[in-house]
Amino acid sequence: MNKKKRIRIAAIADIHIHEPLGGIYRKLFKKICEEADYLLICGDLTQRGLEIEAKILVHELTDCHIPVLTVLGNHDYEGGEVEEIKQVLRKNKMYVLEGEDPVIFGDIGFAGVKGFCGGFEDYMLTLWGEEMIKRFYYEGVNEAQKLETALAKLQTKYKIVLLHYSPVKETVVGESPEIFTYLGSSQLERPINNYQATMVFHGHAHGGKVLGKTSTGIPVYNVSHSLLEHLNPNHPYVLIEL
Ligand SMILES: [Fe+2]
Ligand SMILES: [Fe+2]
Repeated sequence: MNKKKRIRIAAIADIHIHEPLGGIYRKLFKKICEEADYLLICGDLTQRGLEIEAKILVHELTDCHIPVLTVLGNHDYEGGEVEEIKQVLRKNKMYVLEGEDPVIFGDIGFAGVKGFCGGFEDYMLTLWGEEMIKRFYYEGVNEAQKLETALAKLQTKYKIVLLHYSPVKETVVGESPEIFTYLGSSQLERPINNYQATMVFHGHAHGGKVLGKTSTGIPVYNVSHSLLEHLNPNHPYVLIEL
């Protein structure tokens, strides 16, 4: 009998590439790309958000010949070179997901946004008070809305979500509770539940927990490189078979 090949998705985040680090990820990416069918990099690709750092990342991926899908993280915004970074990545056949337009490969659809902070559950920031607070609140709402638009376009068997910020509290536990508000937002959880995503990958919480779930039971993986490296230095990425 002809057994259908399983699809393997590798995910990592927070690699924070910068100039002295050139070369250190090349071997790791080669290994990942030999094991997986898709590689997801969930934000903080660069340390200071510079175009040169994106070019180093492209070089690190020289031996990788599978589709690479990314979302940007807060660090990728630091240097004011976001457009240049996206251009470098896209010119080198990487997908940079920013909501609204998902990427589809057969049975699998990928929807992604950076996301934003704002806190979780009962401690989520609310729309109240100063204009600045309201703008901060709406940034989270807008990111969730973009994700919703992307998920609404997917009719695929598998719907995979990439984020930088976490949609649930569970995978940031391990970080100081004082900074939970800055590690993600429950706003992001709503479209994931509503559109019954298959699974979610995020980063940003370098010291959180690898596996959690949304309130409807959808698996959420924190794939921050430093967290995974701490747990298993020989396997600092998550590999899932569908
Ligand atoms: Fe990071
Ligand atoms: Fe981050």
